[in-house]
Amino acid sequence: MKLYQGRIPQRRQGGGSRRPESLWRRVPLAFLASAVLALGCSNGTSTDGGTGGVQTTGGSATTSAVTGGSAPGGTSQATGGSATGGATTSGSAGTTQVTSASATAGSATGGSASGGTPQTTGGASTGGVSSTGGAATGGGATGGSVTGGNATGGSATGGSATGGGTTSSTSTGGRTSGGSVTGGSATGGTSAGGRASGGSVTDGGATGGRAAGGATGGASGGTVLGGTTSAGGVSGGTTASAGTTASGILAATPPMGWNSWNKFGGGVTDTLVRGIADAMVSSGMQAVGYQYINIDDMWQSSRDASGNIVPNASKFPNGMKALADYVHSKGLKLGLYSDRGTKTCAGVPGSYSYETKDAQSYASWGVDYLKYDNCNTAAGSNMQTDYTNMANALKATGRPIVFSICAWWFYNWEPTTGQLWRTGTDITDTWDTDSHSVIALINNNGGWSGRYSGASYGSPGLAQYAGPGHWNDPDMLEVGNGGMTDTEYQSHFSLWAIMAAPLIAGNDIRSMSAATKNILTNADVIAVDQDPLGIQGKPISTSTTLEVWSKKLSGNQTYAVVLFNRTTASASITVTWASLGMTATSATVRDLWSHTDLGPTATQYAATVPSHGVVMLKVVGN
Ligand code: GLA
Repeated sequence: MKLYQGRIPQRRQGGGSRRPESLWRRVPLAFLASAVLALGCSNGTSTDGGTGGVQTTGGSATTSAVTGGSAPGGTSQATGGSATGGATTSGSAGTTQVTSASATAGSATGGSASGGTPQTTGGASTGGVSSTGGAATGGGATGGSVTGGNATGGSATGGSATGGGTTSSTSTGGRTSGGSVTGGSATGGTSAGGRASGGSVTDGGATGGRAAGGATGGASGGTVLGGTTSAGGVSGGTTASAGTTASGILAATPPMGWNSWNKFGGGVTDTLVRGIADAMVSSGMQAVGYQYINIDDMWQSSRDASGNIVPNASKFPNGMKALADYVHSKGLKLGLYSDRGTKTCAGVPGSYSYETKDAQSYASWGVDYLKYDNCNTAAGSNMQTDYTNMANALKATGRPIVFSICAWWFYNWEPTTGQLWRTGTDITDTWDTDSHSVIALINNNGGWSGRYSGASYGSPGLAQYAGPGHWNDPDMLEVGNGGMTDTEYQSHFSLWAIMAAPLIAGNDIRSMSAATKNILTNADVIAVDQDPLGIQGKPISTSTTLEVWSKKLSGNQTYAVVLFNRTTASASITVTWASLGMTATSATVRDLWSHTDLGPTATQYAATVPSHGVVMLKVVGN
């Protein structure tokens, strides 16, 4: 929903086109008190995976095919696969089978990667029947085709592979690097399909596959998890999966991608989108997990005689299907934008009363994500009903389409209707100017009224609503758009990551500076955002100016910490291990921006933090 007053009447009353951006983006704060509006987008296709009962890690091959193992029983595990016609060059991939429900799923999953180069990440998979499922780093295979392991009753992660088949229950399929992959299929169950790094992916199973990016030929193992999320694998096996949370859930971790609005407004074209898709790959963004290329408002022109939505032909002369095919050929996914009203915020046709037709169009084109706004609503319409209608229409297509609700304040239904929902008004490329600034959006999503003046939500804040498949969305990123310093952009990105926010870049990634690219592709920070537990971090300090934020990560006594200096002078900020809830008195500390391991540290850690800057840490008690 939208909070700023100036825009609400237009959206609510359906009164034609939007205000010029320069006006509505800067509505004075004083208007906020009387402003009330709800806006939004959402989807319900979350096919929940099993309870981590069974895990299989696919084997990998150098150049030949390997068929993954299968686990037909509800509690058995299979690791690796038996190789058929292909050499597995290391590890016990392909042969190790573990049948104990709680056993560690074998060793050295994955064999070799990258054309004979010994793999670095075995696919140690654990979990079995444990509720947290297994952490799998997955073996990587580059250049070879691999059929992933199968899972019955649990999740299958890791293992470079094409999707594995399942005979029942849930499979996350497999993944591959540098090649094409066909998603897993499921009989009698659901499948999250496979994914591809640097290759193309064909959706399979109920929730389809997706591409994880990754440098072809690089160490691309262990891209991630749960079949629906990816974090890229350039460093190989850096991310683990969680059986119960990640398996088969749409948007199991916060969506990552790019959106046209912040930088290009209505200037979206086929050429732009293809260029962005190309840059997503060449910049290395895909390799660290960015996946969705989202076209925002103004791609539509009209409806045809049958009521079908028609893309603007001068902007998209090849149509949306051809564009989606191109984006998919890069191993990426395509998103679109519409509105629950009769018109979008910018005044082109909305989806009100055309939900089914539009969802079918999107699915037939191969659309993977829908942002759904809340402008120009029809007289007598009901917000929840309208969003639910579109969520159901998307689900009915059978295609996994992430539903992004562009409305806020309705936490009683948004988390069960979409995979993400906005938590406040539109972001602008400013640090602390008004309610649209990064600071205001952090205060709203990360805090609560009472802690920060201007925050709209009561204690304990919005973090309680976040989790795998449902995320608070403080809006798209402004990193690289020029209105803030690189220090501020680094803080913006770090705070979004510790809040487990969607990471949707909003700059021109075709021409970004080295500093911007460095921020957007920081795999250490992205791993915090994408942690499979899906916990949204919160401020834990008493101070609201020199702050400590904490986010519990998967792994015993493992936390992300942001030391955040909101003041105008550099200052020292200290985090104590006890304040994190850690029982250990000593911890290992890693600086996630300098990428430095700082070694064991007793009791606490202090750092000098620049004005408007952060120091971001990963802390592991020992
Ligand atoms: C609203 C949304 C923005 C953008 C525009 C498009 O303002 O909040 O993110 O989608 O509409 O008109």
